[in-house]
Amino acid sequence: MEIPFVFGKIASARNFTDRRDETERLVQNFNSGANTILISPRRWGKSSLVMHATDRVRRKSKEIRFCFVDLNNVRTEEQFYQHLASAVLRSSASRVREVLDNARKFLGRLTPNLTFSPAPASEFKLSMDWKEVRRSPEDILNLAEKIGAEKKLRFVVCMDEFQNISGFEDPLAFQKMLRAHWQHHQNTSYCIYGSKRHMLMDVFTSPSMPFYKFGDIIFLVKISADLWIRFIQERFAQTGKKILSKESQLIAELADCHPYYVQQLAQLTWLRTESTCTVEIVLSAFDSLVLQLSMLLQNLTDGLSNTQINFLKALIDGVEQISGRDQIIEYGLGTSGNVAKIKKSLVSKEIIDISGKEITFLDPMYKVWLGKHYFKTGN
Ligand SMILES: Nc1ncnc2c1ncn2[C@@H]1O[C@H](COP(=O)(O)OP(=O)(O)OP(=O)(O)O)[C@@H](O)[C@H]1O
Ligand SMILES: [Mg+2]
Repeated sequence: MEIPFVFGKIASARNFTDRRDETERLVQNFNSGANTILISPRRWGKSSLVMHATDRVRRKSKEIRFCFVDLNNVRTEEQFYQHLASAVLRSSASRVREVLDNARKFLGRLTPNLTFSPAPASEFKLSMDWKEVRRSPEDILNLAEKIGAEKKLRFVVCMDEFQNISGFEDPLAFQKMLRAHWQHHQNTSYCIYGSKRHMLMDVFTSPSMPFYKFGDIIFLVKISADLWIRFIQERFAQTGKKILSKESQLIAELADCHPYYVQQLAQLTWLRTESTCTVEIVLSAFDSLVLQLSMLLQNLTDGLSNTQINFLKALIDGVEQISGRDQIIEYGLGTSGNVAKIKKSLVSKEIIDISGKEITFLDPMYKVWLGKHYFKTGN
């Protein structure tokens, strides 16, 4: 039987819910050639949303081509160019012959070499003369634009984990160069997404940065409890099981409406349910979820300093004035200057997020685990 609820991979078709407004906005941007910057914490659904919107456009329009560039493991400019050029070539044609022709015609100066794998037939590895690429990267940066102009196609380059370019040798110079080329493009638009909010905000909203006003910035929010309740009930019903709104609401609440965790908890609950779900089943699924994560969360905590852990304890206790004198003493946080440092490092480790005065845990299960297990057992 089909297991409903997926996590850790793209949510599509019946596993995808909501995001109507965001989908609409993306579809409009794709159709009109506007650039988009999509930002959200990890696992809130950026990739799934982009795929959902691109699928919609693809079904209607043959002349818009989407290229997917995942910068996840990309650490150098060289790798960046390789990924970009491969993605553009791949989406420029479906036939191997044509892909090869495009590589020769548009990247000729860089002596491209494509090694095709037997299956799937269109998969290939691209190598180029890297010295030449360094000398004239514009051939790659303008590749989509040039192919588009000649073949009357429009390209949308979807670039995931864009924050990784901050690790390049000279990120600012690199951004300047990208922008200098990309801003002239008529046949190519960009959909850039990633999870490091602060870094991305800095890149796209600081007037002094090259990518200032590059495109439409979308901050993805979580999916609301109401929509989750409906979704969970539907997926149970479609697979011959029953769950009432009380239990579905409990799933959404325990997972803090975090898309990945709602799906994971819903799946664990579904697996434990024979025909009708009960509150006890949801709670036992939740316990097992937290337990499953224990090792990972323990490792994460082992990597923190004592004062960072103390700070998290104060957060869990709901302390409002963490940098107040009494609180600093009570929780052993050092000095108020130290508290600022702790916050900064916890933000950069993606453990907390600070928005105005509000500090939240990025991973709702970490908060639960610290409260229920870590601090309870005398740490
Ligand atoms: N619209 C949606 N409907 C249902 N579930 C969703 C939706 N969006 C995301 N999810 C759930 O969240 C999980 C993570 O989604 P996705 O990989 O799209 O997020 P992401 O923001 O790209 O994550 P990362 O930051 O790790 O790249 C999915 O596997 C799925 O379980
Ligand atoms: Mg993603």
